[in-house]
Amino acid sequence: MNSREDHSRLIVDNPQWDAGRAAAESMEFLRDVVDGLSRRAKSLSCKHFYDAEGSRLFERIMRMPEYYPTRCETEILRAFRGDILSLMDGLPFNLVDLGAGDAAKTRILLEHFHRRGALLSYVPVDVSGDALARMAASVREELPGLTVHPLADEYFPALDRLNGSVPGRKLVLFLGSTIGNFEKREAAAFLKGLRDSLEPDDALLIGFDLRKEPGRVLRAYDDASGLTARFNLNLLERINRELEADFDPDGFVHHAVYDPEEGVARSYLVSRREQAVRIRKAGLTLVIGAWESIHTENAFKYAPEEIRRLAEAAGFVESAVFQDREGLFQDSFLTFSR
Ligand code: AVJ
Repeated sequence: MNSREDHSRLIVDNPQWDAGRAAAESMEFLRDVVDGLSRRAKSLSCKHFYDAEGSRLFERIMRMPEYYPTRCETEILRAFRGDILSLMDGLPFNLVDLGAGDAAKTRILLEHFHRRGALLSYVPVDVSGDALARMAASVREELPGLTVHPLADEYFPALDRLNGSVPGRKLVLFLGSTIGNFEKREAAAFLKGLRDSLEPDDALLIGFDLRKEPGRVLRAYDDASGLTARFNLNLLERINRELEADFDPDGFVHHAVYDPEEGVARSYLVSRREQAVRIRKAGLTLVIGAWESIHTENAFKYAPEEIRRLAEAAGFVESAVFQDREGLFQDSFLTFSR
C-alpha cells in the first residue's frame, strides 16, 4: 500500500462525515460486546467507555478531587516543558498526540513549543473523531500559525501512515497513564510496537501512574460523588443506545478493587439479581446471574524501576523522568539511544 497517496484522505476535519469508519466501529462494538458477554467470566473492553456521554463523564472525572492523575500530570508538564523541549535538541519536530481527547494537558506543551518555533505540526490522533474535530478547531484558534492535522484513526495505523508522509522528527505523546489499561505483559508488547513504529530520531513522552497508598488509588476509581460509577454504568447505557439492548443500569453496582501485589485497580459491574438482557442488534438474550460480575477496566500502577525495565525491554532508553512533587505520577522521556 502506498501511504503517501493515502495520507490526505486520513486528515479529517469533520470526522463525522467519515461514514465508513463509523460503520466499522459499530460492527466492532457489537462483536466485542457479544464476545465479552458470552464468556464464563464476563467482560467489556474499557475502550468502549468513550462515546460522547462517556467522554463528557471522563472530562468531569479528571476535574474531581479524588482523581489525582490529571492534576499531577498537568503539574509535571507545566514544570518541565522547558526540559522536555531541551531534550529535543533544538531541531523542529511534529508533536503527535495519541489519544488526544480534548488536549487539555497537551495545550501546555503546544503553547510553549509553538511560541518558540519548535513545531512542524501538531497531529492529534483519536478514534473518537467527533471530539477530535472540535478540539482541532479550538487549537487552531488558540494558536494561529500552527499546522494541525487531526487523524481519526487507531494508534498504529496512524503512526505507520505518518512515517511515510509527514517529513521531520516526531515527539509522540502517550499521556494520562492510558498504558495502564493494558495488562503488564500487553503493555510490554504495546511499547515494543510503538518502538517499531518510530524512527531513530523520534522520542516518546509517556505517562505512568505510580504505585502508592492503596486507599488513595481506590478512591480515584470509586469516588464519593459516584461519578466513576456513572462512567462505568454508561457502558451499559451505550449498549442500550447503540445495540438496542435493555440493560437496567439500576440492576448493577459499580465495584472497584485495588490489588497492591500486581499494582492494579480493577473495575466491575456486578449484577444485583438474576436478570435477562435482550440485545436486539445481536439477536440474543443473555441471562446474568445474581452477583455475577462484568469486568470493565484495569488501571495498572508502576514502580519507577518497573517503568525503566519496561522501556528497556522494548528497546528504548529512558533519557529522563519527570514526577510531580508528591511522587504520584511519572512521565518518562524515551528515545532510541542516549
Ligand atoms: C483514561 C485510562 C487513564 O485508568 O485512570 C478513570 C480511565 N477510569 N476513572 C484511568 C478511568 C476510571 C483512566 N485512563
